[in-house]
Amino acid sequence: MTKDFKKDFIFGTATSSYQIEGAIAEDGRSPSIWDIFSKTPGKTYRGNTGDVACGHYHRYKEDIELMEKIGTGAYRFSVSWSRIFPEKGRFNPKGMDFYKRLIDELNKRNIKPVITIYHWDLPLWAYNMGGWLNRDSVKWFEEYSSRLFKELNESVRLWITHNEPLCASFFGYHEGIHAPGHKDLKEAVTTAHHILMSHGSAVRNFRKLRFKNSEIGIALNLIPSYPVSGSEEDKKASSVFDGQYNRWFLRPLFKADYPEDMKEVFKKLIGDFDFMKDGDMEKISVKNDFLGVNYYSRELIKYSPDSELEYKKTHGNFERTEMDWEIVPEALYKLILRLREEYTSIPIYITENGAAFKDKVSKDGKVHDGKRIDYLRNHLKKIAVLNQKGADIKGYFLWSLMDNFEWGHGYSKRFGIIYLDYKTQERILKDSALWYRDLIKNRIIK
Ligand code: BGC
Repeated sequence: MTKDFKKDFIFGTATSSYQIEGAIAEDGRSPSIWDIFSKTPGKTYRGNTGDVACGHYHRYKEDIELMEKIGTGAYRFSVSWSRIFPEKGRFNPKGMDFYKRLIDELNKRNIKPVITIYHWDLPLWAYNMGGWLNRDSVKWFEEYSSRLFKELNESVRLWITHNEPLCASFFGYHEGIHAPGHKDLKEAVTTAHHILMSHGSAVRNFRKLRFKNSEIGIALNLIPSYPVSGSEEDKKASSVFDGQYNRWFLRPLFKADYPEDMKEVFKKLIGDFDFMKDGDMEKISVKNDFLGVNYYSRELIKYSPDSELEYKKTHGNFERTEMDWEIVPEALYKLILRLREEYTSIPIYITENGAAFKDKVSKDGKVHDGKRIDYLRNHLKKIAVLNQKGADIKGYFLWSLMDNFEWGHGYSKRFGIIYLDYKTQERILKDSALWYRDLIKNRIIK
């Protein structure tokens, strides 16, 4: 029987530091903007914080054992910047040691380490110096990422500079739903620019090291946008959404420019881009080894004259997850075709895909999360078909290895294939974990 996935297709899982580690004041870690934001009244579900989270900082061995049971070939995690540099310019070897131990343990078990350098937890010291609004943030990130390259080098298979720059900029600085909780469009556009610049400089420094077994790229959360009707207004609104969420990041990375239509939209609202300098776009559009795509859902968009960017999100008839996100595997399929047609032929990794559902432990002690299995199966089927057509998707990182701190939603949304009992820190493999194990073993989707 022909397999759906070739032998070298990588099946992994993904997490991020603040969402799972806990141990926020141990071994010299200093606070990040998420420590502050999560402790600000009203910002997270029931005031939940990442203080303890999954206790992964201490239980990482147990978690890696569970990965081994599931049979995953790779693990994507992020480094907490303020463990490595608790103050500007002060390296903290103890913080670094944690990641070295983690990586050793993974490599021992043949699980390829995949590092996200920045998954939103900016050190507070950096924020106090202006954060991503300060152009010097590019240099701070350079110092941090170069240190990681030097310390960890080729023990890391894939390096991802940034996770979802859209969220770090627009969600954190415009919508205010993520740390640091600002609501200013100009700040969002500025921070997006500096984050992209910092990606470019990190990749350039990485190249100087001439690693042979390590590659570098970025992970974007791409959200295909569909107009709710065929009206010109709705089509324009959908194009603005696409421009802000997708093209604002894809175009600078792959075509060395921001999209013209969106420059116009933003300039009308925030004035000239005084944060941009000559040569910036060349610095951003460096050659990447791969593109990471985080895909969860599409958005259905309607014209809305009252909102700043004149669009609003609405819903169609698709079934939705606990996040209220529509389940539309077909949109992932079309997204990849579009990336291939319009932007790039470099290898793609699906660096996140998964779903939150209302999971509970049944009387038999198990977690029967059939809906998650359906979600995963239907998305992975699309990936298999895409690869049969030559899409060159090299791997898949399921979000998430385990239930964790889901940002503003705190612990109320469970994305894991491992269930977390937050009172006891007990871990239980959900049915989806067993399903994933069988898929990895057989490489055939059932
Ligand atoms: C983020 C994760 C998050 C997941 C589910 C992604 O946008 O990278 O940190 O938990 O989506 O919301």
